[in-house]
Amino acid sequence: MPIDTKTNVHTELWKLSPHVIGLEASIIREILKISSKPGVINLAGGLPAPELFPIKELQKCMLDVIEKNGPVAFQYSLSMGVVALREEIAKRATGRGSKSTKDNILITSGAQQAIELIARAFIDPGDYILTENPTYLGALQAFNYYKAKYTSAEMDNEGMIIDQVEAKIKKHSPKLIYTVSNFQNPTGITMSLERRKQLVELASKYNIPIIDDNPYGDIRFEGEHLPTLKSIGGDEVIALRTFSKIISPGMRIGWMNSPVDILAQFEKVKQCTDLHSGTFNQYMIYEFLSQGMLEPHLKNICADYKKKRDVMLDTMKAHFPEGVTWTEPEGGLFLWVELPKHMSAEKLLPKAIDQKVAYVYGQPFFPSGEGENTLRLNYCNASPDNIREGIKRLGKLFKDNM
Ligand SMILES: Cc1ncc(COP(=O)(O)O)c(C=O)c1O
Repeated sequence: MPIDTKTNVHTELWKLSPHVIGLEASIIREILKISSKPGVINLAGGLPAPELFPIKELQKCMLDVIEKNGPVAFQYSLSMGVVALREEIAKRATGRGSKSTKDNILITSGAQQAIELIARAFIDPGDYILTENPTYLGALQAFNYYKAKYTSAEMDNEGMIIDQVEAKIKKHSPKLIYTVSNFQNPTGITMSLERRKQLVELASKYNIPIIDDNPYGDIRFEGEHLPTLKSIGGDEVIALRTFSKIISPGMRIGWMNSPVDILAQFEKVKQCTDLHSGTFNQYMIYEFLSQGMLEPHLKNICADYKKKRDVMLDTMKAHFPEGVTWTEPEGGLFLWVELPKHMSAEKLLPKAIDQKVAYVYGQPFFPSGEGENTLRLNYCNASPDNIREGIKRLGKLFKDNM
């Protein structure tokens, strides 16, 4: 029977799980579909700058993998991941203050899969997860599949407001604390050192694991790196990392750094999901790291992203009307804009698309559904000229709709 996407014949006739029918498509993917139309300046997606992908280096790694590891790189491999890559990752984590061995490391198909494995392993319908408000939409999507509930702490410029956390733990007994501690998606905010220590203390007091989802920590282009939650909290913390934002998202290689006994549980879940992440890509990343290609590449992307962030901030200062505020991140990909309370970023988006500029409106990032007046901008993916032009158009749009 041919699939009729217009009339949803199969969706109605076949007995799909209500879990799937009830799932919402990612709003970001929907906005990306619109914003990838020709001529639209895309400040919406979470995409790194494609012109900075280290193509030449990756080409060398590819040839080296074939030459050195030949058939093994094309074979099935361990669910935990390629040993050499896990050892390299553990060495780097130890160097950053989280003493780790390969036995703490599980390679995943991006950090997104790590979130999904955690949700599967921990969440029964109705279980609470404590998050920041707002938080990463992809995590909410993964957790929603398992019918999680949320209790969320507000944020200020130092990250999650810890004073709110203990009462929420007492009230809801969350199974997990989920945070994006560095250059958070969506706000660009980084949790301060003091707050990190306080969060670890609370997690330890109530025996709740902290999931520190940290794709952006290495992309710091200003200020000093802060100790990671894992280096402060040790076994209280499951750290999620990824090569998506620092090498290539298409490679789909991320990892978890977790206490060994828990990792054995995740290994079983990973086996059910996809047996293992792509062997060849793991070997490629290993070559990239072991040949010392990551450090110069990081310098390169940090320099470029800083320049683009500055262009965006300078243009916002010149063109955004009074009453609009924004964050000024010292790294990562995103900044966060708040319009006056009475304005709706969602309602303004079609008008922005008419003006050929796209952003992601903020409401879906809030587990509790507020934030109508907020939006997220990516300063890494567009060219400086397009950032300038896009922000000018948004400035005019906001002024006209104040
Ligand atoms: C906070 C956060 N976690 C996880 C992911 C997913 O990353 P990956 O490409 O490694 O699956 C993203 C991507 O935007 C993210 O911002």
